[in-house]
Amino acid sequence: MKIVVFSGAGMSAESGISTFRDNDGLWEKYNVYDVATPEAWYRNQDLVLEFYNQRRKQLLEMEPNEAHRLLARLKSEHQIEIVTQNIDDLHERAGSENVLHLHGELRKSQSTLNPKLVYPIESWELKKGDFCEKGSQLRPHVVWFGEAVPMMDQAEALVADCDLLIVIGTSLNVYPAAGLLYSVKSTAAIYVIDPSPMDISPYKNCVHIQKTASEGLKKLIHDLEFRTL
Ligand code: APR
Repeated sequence: MKIVVFSGAGMSAESGISTFRDNDGLWEKYNVYDVATPEAWYRNQDLVLEFYNQRRKQLLEMEPNEAHRLLARLKSEHQIEIVTQNIDDLHERAGSENVLHLHGELRKSQSTLNPKLVYPIESWELKKGDFCEKGSQLRPHVVWFGEAVPMMDQAEALVADCDLLIVIGTSLNVYPAAGLLYSVKSTAAIYVIDPSPMDISPYKNCVHIQKTASEGLKKLIHDLEFRTL
């Protein structure tokens, strides 16, 4: 069975990373237009660098949670691809292999001259004066609001080819990512795992498991009689 997992911030909530739109979420503490847009970068690079430096510093102290680990174990049984909106590396650190980061990766930087020049950030800090090989300032390797999502076509192709789409911990507010649920073929099933009430009526063959990522995944793995547990 070909499985695609589409994850959002709720996937990492049990690791201690704040979501964006829940009570006390990141976008209640910060104005998204001040830290996560190209305009913010032109206006105040220090603030943007500091915002992502703090996120990166926090990430280095976090560990994958049970839900990340359960997904990683599924790969021994099924062909599994992960499409994540998360910029953390917790899927990889749990052992998952095929992880497509739709919104970029916190532990990487990219050239402001050529976005294809991407570099790992070894520690937590990206500073003014950190340059790419062409001599241009490096910025976080993150897709900001108002920017195109370069991996979208690849993500759509994966979803269109799967038999089972497992959606975990996303409010499905942000497009084009949220539109992936419309790309499934008519014979595929969708399971949405999220503790909040969700309107799943627009989606075909869709079931909502109203639980946290780890509890919801355990239920799904049990109900579908995967041997992983
Ligand atoms: N397990 C599963 N889901 C959870 C948990 C949990 N323990 N805790 C909260 N959630 C759910 C919430 O109910 C909510 O539906 O996670 C979802 C988080 O939604 P958002 O904060 O909107 O995050 P996300 O959908 O990933 O945001 C998409 O928006 O700000 C941008 O680029 C950022 O990639 C991000 C995008």
